[in-house]
Amino acid sequence: MSRAPSPLGKDLIGLEELSAEQIESILNTAEPFKEISERRIKKVPVLRGKTIVNLFMEPSTRTRISFEFAEKRLSADTVNISASGSSVQKGETLVDTARNLEAMRIDMVVIRHPSSGAARFLADRIPSNVINAGDGSHEHPTQALLDLLTIRDHRESIRGLKVCIVGDILHSRVARSNIFGLLKLGAEVGVCGPKTLIPAGIQDLGVTIFRRIEEAIEWSDVLNILRLQLERMQGGFVPSLREYNRVFGVTIPRLEAAPQDILILHPGPMNRGVEIDSDVADGPQSVILKQVTNGVAVRMAVLYLLAGGAPERAEAAKKGEMA
Ligand code: CP
Repeated sequence: MSRAPSPLGKDLIGLEELSAEQIESILNTAEPFKEISERRIKKVPVLRGKTIVNLFMEPSTRTRISFEFAEKRLSADTVNISASGSSVQKGETLVDTARNLEAMRIDMVVIRHPSSGAARFLADRIPSNVINAGDGSHEHPTQALLDLLTIRDHRESIRGLKVCIVGDILHSRVARSNIFGLLKLGAEVGVCGPKTLIPAGIQDLGVTIFRRIEEAIEWSDVLNILRLQLERMQGGFVPSLREYNRVFGVTIPRLEAAPQDILILHPGPMNRGVEIDSDVADGPQSVILKQVTNGVAVRMAVLYLLAGGAPERAEAAKKGEMA
């Protein structure tokens, strides 16, 4: 594969730092990689010889497993590390953990961490490529990229679309990455949720605030529904889960009242019956599992580009041709 400098730079920390062209380039690179996962033998030699560490200091199902699939389908060697069972439990710092991994000659680190800023902190201290797989309430760039790819698959263009992010915006790295990505690609962005879960000053980013879910639904082409992050709340943000569902829950009757056909996204994990009812999550407007499928292709694209792959060579790389 080409050893040219990556069009993304050394690391992927957030969409705030990327240009519209860089975001488009990742999405376009993901397109040919989608097909690899549909093959009987799901493997190409794009990252042969690369060693990637998945350092997950917080629980994850979708992100951790889809990064691992993406790495294996590109033929990288992978190691998974979690907080439990590693020397982090004995008090080892993040940088010491990473330096010890580097001493074993790794190429990339995919990191999920409960602290906002952890991915940038690490990227500034080690020469390996660092990919942010979600840091505190800062950013979750690959989630937003897969959301963008899924919207693009189902609507002609992201430019001009009205996308409303619903729910716990305050604690959500997914919301922040989506806002940056959607605005850069020309969408109009709304947010909707209880006052306690909408960060002060968010309208300065260029988003419209909706206080009522009915108004948000009437306005939107796409709803991206977020989980109430109960583990990040100290209590008192919502009166009760039942009350949250009554006032902000996305339900079939509410969607049926909308004049337009709305696309339904959710990054998962879902609290069914809280922010989203099951018949919406499993209904015809939902593309939630398509988001998960696209997550593998997007992560393949990010790994390929950070390793120095050229966007215009992605089609050849998927056929196993080396540059
Ligand atoms: N969407 C997402 O980040 O899910 P996981 O926490 O399961 O990775």
